[in-house]
Order: sequence, then structure tokens, then C-alpha cells
Amino acid sequence: MRKLYIIVLVLIVISCDSEVNKKKKESVRETPAMNTEIDNKVASLLSEMTLEEKVGQMTQITLDVVTKGDNQFSSAQPYELDSALVHKAIHTYKVGSILNTPGVPLSRQDWYKTIKTFQDEAAKTPRQIPIIYGIDAIHGVNYTIGATLFPQQIGLAATFNKDLVREAAKISAYETRASSIPWNFSPVLGLGRNPLWPRLWETFGEDVYLGKTMGVAMVEGYQGTLGDPNTVASCMKHYLGYSVPLSGKDRTPAWIPERELRQYFLPAFKEAVDAGSVTLMINSGEINGVPVHASKFLLTDVLRGELGFQGIAVTDWADINYLHTRHKVAETIKDAIKISVNAGIDMSMVPHDFEFSELLVELVKEGSVSEETINDAVSRILKVKMQLGLFENPVTDPKKYPDFGSKKFAEVSKKAALESFTLLKNNNNILPIAEKSKILVTGPTANTMRSLNGGWSYNWQGSEADNYAKDKNTIADAFTKSGNTTFIQGVSFDGENNINEAVKAAKQSDVILLCLGENSYTETPGNINSILLPKDQIELTKALAKTGKKIILVLLEGRPIIFNEIEPLVDAVYMGYLPGNYGADALVDLLFGLENPSGRLPINYPKHPHAFVNYNHKHSDNIAVPNYYESDYDQQYEFGDGLSYTSFKYSDLSLSATQMTQDGSIKVSVKVTNTGNRKGKEAVLLFVSDLYASITPEVRALKGYEKIALNAGESKVVSFTITKDELSFVNESLETIAESGEFEISIGDLKKKFELK
Ligand code: BGC
Repeated sequence: MRKLYIIVLVLIVISCDSEVNKKKKESVRETPAMNTEIDNKVASLLSEMTLEEKVGQMTQITLDVVTKGDNQFSSAQPYELDSALVHKAIHTYKVGSILNTPGVPLSRQDWYKTIKTFQDEAAKTPRQIPIIYGIDAIHGVNYTIGATLFPQQIGLAATFNKDLVREAAKISAYETRASSIPWNFSPVLGLGRNPLWPRLWETFGEDVYLGKTMGVAMVEGYQGTLGDPNTVASCMKHYLGYSVPLSGKDRTPAWIPERELRQYFLPAFKEAVDAGSVTLMINSGEINGVPVHASKFLLTDVLRGELGFQGIAVTDWADINYLHTRHKVAETIKDAIKISVNAGIDMSMVPHDFEFSELLVELVKEGSVSEETINDAVSRILKVKMQLGLFENPVTDPKKYPDFGSKKFAEVSKKAALESFTLLKNNNNILPIAEKSKILVTGPTANTMRSLNGGWSYNWQGSEADNYAKDKNTIADAFTKSGNTTFIQGVSFDGENNINEAVKAAKQSDVILLCLGENSYTETPGNINSILLPKDQIELTKALAKTGKKIILVLLEGRPIIFNEIEPLVDAVYMGYLPGNYGADALVDLLFGLENPSGRLPINYPKHPHAFVNYNHKHSDNIAVPNYYESDYDQQYEFGDGLSYTSFKYSDLSLSATQMTQDGSIKVSVKVTNTGNRKGKEAVLLFVSDLYASITPEVRALKGYEKIALNAGESKVVSFTITKDELSFVNESLETIAESGEFEISIGDLKKKFELK
């Protein structure tokens, strides 16, 4: 028996090993020979370069600097490049990189013309080093007219479907290249653990395992085989700890013990580095009083030393200057440049002037920054340019990308939206509704593309989505087209309100589709002082509830806006996140039951404004005397929640062993049966609880998930492999360890224990 056990174990190890190898082969995009060839080319090019040329490569400016207009902070419309300024940037300052939009989205032809102009100019310089153009194509190439816009990352996380995320990223890469751009500032690998933070929706939610696995899928989708003109360089951001400012406001200080940095925030970056991501952007904020742009520890010791990252580390927007003007750790801008370059940045997103280049040349000449440091940074930049094939093919031609904005891509976006919508309440199975139902569509998010797309859509704040996505359906459009619908705004974001009219229309309807939530925003403009649902939205809901009609609430929002005051008044709740340009079409199919929901919450949805707790909380977060001390763990909805129109039964949870050694593994399997009468998809989530540990253990933590499709009556067995990795945490000495003792696996409502030796 023991022998058999050993053989089985060996087989498991072999199969895990081959999995690991396969992963490595897929993710390491070049053979060692290619690498040497590129490294040799880089070394030889570098040896010919002047200091000014090198520093130019480390400089990234924003597009406004080289366009016609009043100044370097904006572009006149219609947008046009200024050839004298282009010449100055590329010839005088020898800049290596340009980013961003001129404030409006461009057509593919305009992108092509713009980037071709830069590359033609760069080809006239002595070294002919191509420019690397970077863009925030965070949910599709959102600054190109006619592009396919997907759900934002938080919605993609809610799909719990890695394959779909990889596919969406692949399409985004293709369309980015169809816009002649080879570098995408995505994905965000920070964890959305503070509900107030205005960029929570740019994350994959609050969980480490979900975030790191989705991050890898996205990097794989973007990069494919680097050098293939259908793929782009990804950019892991924002390294490290950006997502949890204590105040919840963007770019304000975070306080994160190193133990937590390592356990919660580092893994997604580590996995993405291992998956081959070639660039990284740095957190604009400060952690424990140290701005990350000034942290040699994080930028060199951890990033290069421990994670082995060899790609480009680019600053975020103007962040070197902020070391002087905001964080006050540098007495002058020059000092700030010295600190940051010596800490380990490779490229400065300056972005408005050439002071960085001028002062950095001085610093090297004075000996405050070594030429070796500069050489390291420039080598990394040149290497990525070569890996991307920019030397041979500096600009991709939109004509070669016939699938841009195609119907088949739109279908993938709609599929992602369908799988992201998360049904959180469905009293008396009010949903799906009958096709003939008379519907009142109302609420501030009902008739705007802004609330479907969020920020980084057509422009930074997403404020032009209604102009540029005119041909796409708002919720009001989609329901009006599909049948018996009246739309009355009720309450709008600009303060107009016709609640009485909405109530009147409600009385004539069978059901109310109430669309609440937020307008589009990102970064500092998205900061809020209150996370409560605004008063006018509450008022509208209460007035509608008095009609006695059934209310289906749809939330379009980038963070969990607290609505406990009206939650009892609604019969069904769909969390829609920011589902993109096809979100409204997806919602029609879901509400009428043409499709079955399968999204799961990737965050805890708080119930109370001063009681934020993540789902993987500590036992002492719940000192429960419910309804008395208010120190109970009381969420509106919990991470992983999500209903279906069918029902799933979990059974036969089995573990391959009841004991595991440190280098062993355990196979977990569970049977899932669709016990309802319609087909559906189910995200099967596996949680692990370490029952006792030297650092207080989390109540539970996600360690595996898989999305399966089941016809009515059908069953499938889903298996997971648990190794030491899934049982580890970072201890007081900052070591990642798994402590021997009892662990509990839970899937659905089933639980089983085993012992780690
Ligand atoms: C944001 C980044 C973004 C960069 C370039 C910054 O303000 O923090 O996420 O990639 O701008 O647009």
C-alpha cells in the first residue's frame, strides 16, 4: 500500500512538474540563444551611444509636448503634431519613449500617422533607435475610435474565467497593434482591498490568488510570443502597494508591514514576472513613509534581486518630481532624480519637459549617478525594443488588422460582460422576467455609456463615452429596443430629478429596472468623502418602492457603494461593475433568461460605512455579539457570492490523502451537479483554512477556482492539487513557510480536513 502511495505521489509530482515546465516554456518567450543574440546587439549598440543618447532613452514624454496648442499640457483640437517640437524631442533630447493621447481618442489612421512620424524621425538619428510608444489600453484599446471595449478588470475578475480574460487581452493586444502602439500599461496587479479607493475597479479585486492568476492570464494574452506584431508588451502596475492608501484617497500614504507586503501584495508581481511580463510601472505613493520611487529596497533589492525582473521599470506620471514637490524627501528636482535613478528606475514618465534629461546628464558627469547604472537602465530599454521587433518593424499598419472592431471581437466582449454580471439577490425567483413584461427603466446609470465603461474610456475620465460610443446601447436603449419598455430618468448625475414622473410610470409597469451607481472617474478626481449611496438615489428607490411594484436593482459602479438603507426594498440585485460597451446587451439577455448569470463577487461588498473587512479576515475581526456590540463580521454580500437561475449541488468532496508532507501534494476533487432545469455555468471555488498558526491565520483564503458549464441534470468532477504553496504564509521572520498542523478545505458547503506533516 505504502509503495502504491509512493508511486501515486511520484506520478503527481511528475505531472505537476510537467505542468510547471509547460508553463515555463509558454511564458519564457525566447530561447537562450535568442537572448544572447539580443544581449549582444544591445551591448554593441550601447557601446556606441553618447551619454545624452542614453539619458534620452530613459526619458518618456507625453504626446501634448509635441503637438500644436497653447503649451505642453494640452493639445489644440483638431489635433496635429508640431514638427519643430517633434524634432526637438527626438533630435535635441533624443527621447526614447512617448505616451498618452492628445485628450481625445484618435482613429487608427491618425495613430498610424502619429507613430510613423516619430519612427521616421527616429530613423534619421545616428543610432536609429525606434521610439517605444505606450498607452493605457486597460479594457481594450480605449483611446482608439471604434475599438472593442471590454468590461474593466474588476468585471473580468468576477467572471472567474481565466481563459476568457486571456482571450480579451489577446484581442486588446491585436487592436492596440492595429493602432500602431506596441506597449500597454496594463494589467493592474494591486489588490482592491480598500473600497474607497477610486481605482478599485482597475484591479482584479481583493484576493491574492484570484489577482495573481488573472494577472498571469492577462500578461499571456497581451504578450503571446513577444515580437509577433499581434502582441504588445504588458506593464505590471503599480509596484507596490498602491491600492491600499489608508485614507482611501488616491496616492495618499499607505502603511503596510513588510510581512503583509510579501504575503499579499508581492505574489501577483512575482507570478507576472515569471510569466514573462517585460515592463513594470511604479506606485506613485509612499509606504511606511518611503515613497516607492525612492525605495532602493523595493526597486532593486526586491524587484531585481528577489523577483529577478529584468525588464523596464518606468515611473508613473511625474513621480520623480513629486519626490521633491509632494513627498518632500528631495530638496531639489535634481536630488529627486538622483535618488530615484539610484534606487532603480529605468525610465522616467517625465512627462512635460526635458529637465530630467538635462539634470541626469549633469548628475552622471558629477559622479552622483554612475554610468554603469545608466547602462543597466538603457540596456533594459533597448532589449525590450528589440524583443518587440521595433528595430525591424517600428510601426504596424492598421490595414493589416482586418479584425479590428469586428463583430467576433464584440461577441467576446459581450460574453465577458455576461459572465461578469453577478446576481446577488433574487427573492422568490423574480428573475428571469417574462418576455412580455412591461418594464420601467430608471435611474442615473440607465442612459449613459459612462457608467457602463468607467474611466480610461475615450479619454482619461471617461467623460466622452456618450459621444464616442453613440452607436452602442445604454441600458435604456437596449431595453427599449427589446420590447415593452418605458424610460424615465428619475435622478441624474447632473442634479436633475423627475422622481414623480418615474413613480407615475412605475404604476403603469409590471416591473422596475432601477439602475443606480456611479458616473465615470479614475485617480484623484474619483476620490470621495462618503461611500454611501447618494441621497437622491435613495429617495428615488423609496418613492418607487411605495408603488408596490417589484424592483430589480442593477449597480453600475467601480467600487461597492453602500446601499443597506434600500436593500430590503428591492427584490433582486445585479452587480454589473463596469461591463463595457456591450454590458447593456448582456443585461437584456440575463434579465429575460436567454442567458444564465455566473459572475461571483471578487470583493466583499460592505454593509456599513465604517466596517470594512476583507473576506480573508482574521478570526478576531468577528468578536460576535450580533446586533449588540457591532463587532460582528457583517457584510452586505461576501467575496465569492453569486447566484444562478439554476441550482448546483456539491457532493463527494474527497482528498487523495489525509496527511501531506512538505514536498508532497494532495488532490482534492468534488462533484458538482446542476440540479435545476436550465443549463448554467458555475465557478467552483476552493478555500483553505489553516486552523492554527504562529501568525494569526486567515479565516479562509481562495486557493483554486475553475469555471465549468453544466446542462440541466449534468454532473462534473472538478479536481485541484494542493501543494505547500497553497498552505504557506509569511512568518515573523519574513519567511514563506507552511506550518505543520491541521488544514481545512472548503468547497461550496462541504469541508474536509487534512494534516500537514
Ligand atoms: C496612472 C497610470 C497610467 C499613467 C499613464 C498615471 O496617472 O497612475 O496608471 O498608466 O498615468 O497614463
